[in-house]
Amino acid sequence: MELYDVMRTACATREFTNDPIPDATLFKILDNARFAPSGGNRQGWRVIIVRDRKTREALAELSVPAARRYAAQLKAGENPWNTVDPTNVDAETIELTPAPSYFTKPYLQAPVVLVVCVDLKVVASTDQYLHRIGVVSGASIYPFVWNILLAARHEGYGGTITTLAISQEPKLQDHLGVPKEFAISAIIPLGKPVRHLTKLKRKPVLSFAVYERWDGKPLSETSDD
Ligand SMILES: Cc1cc2nc3c(=O)[nH]c(=O)nc-3n(C[C@H](O)[C@H](O)[C@H](O)COP(=O)(O)O)c2cc1C
Repeated sequence: MELYDVMRTACATREFTNDPIPDATLFKILDNARFAPSGGNRQGWRVIIVRDRKTREALAELSVPAARRYAAQLKAGENPWNTVDPTNVDAETIELTPAPSYFTKPYLQAPVVLVVCVDLKVVASTDQYLHRIGVVSGASIYPFVWNILLAARHEGYGGTITTLAISQEPKLQDHLGVPKEFAISAIIPLGKPVRHLTKLKRKPVLSFAVYERWDGKPLSETSDD
């Protein structure tokens, strides 16, 4: 596929056919994804390829607590899991909210689930002393994660970055034998999509790109003229 077509159509795939992903294809996807950048080119990633049914069931189960909270906050009109506005949803409401099945089913349905970990010992977290949640660390792993999904799209497969189960990281680490200094960054169910979306809903450039300052004029296609 042409690069821009891949970028514009790599949707979040959560429903999969029964087709397997051969190891040779997985290898090709990872062999291309590995050219992603990372801080200092440290490449602290490690990918666990999960096909075992029991492990996939555990991944689904470990997603449930975060999925309940996600759904409860959404219902209350909040931006789920954000760290700026404290939630007004109480623990009991969260506990009583069912976890939507589209958050758990993909792990059971996909032929393979990739668990992407990153070695925090080699990640430069330059925002670690700021009084806000860290985001820079993610920049040393998510380009790689996204490259996996772009390569998968190119090969006719699809998947989704999922993160809900990561709220239970210590249990995940125990289950998969991941050392404590490796953060689990993404859990990607991967397979042949039941359907490929061709039109993704995204905001236009002029809604987010501005000249020179936060309150600058929006970037326009014709401003060079
Ligand atoms: C950081 C991040 C975390 C995400 N976590 C989940 C998740 O836990 N479960 C899930 O089903 N989708 C998850 N998604 C997928 C998003 O919901 C999806 O990318 C977004 O809705 C756009 O979907 P589309 O490409 O099909 O338009 C996540 C995406 C990102 C980038």
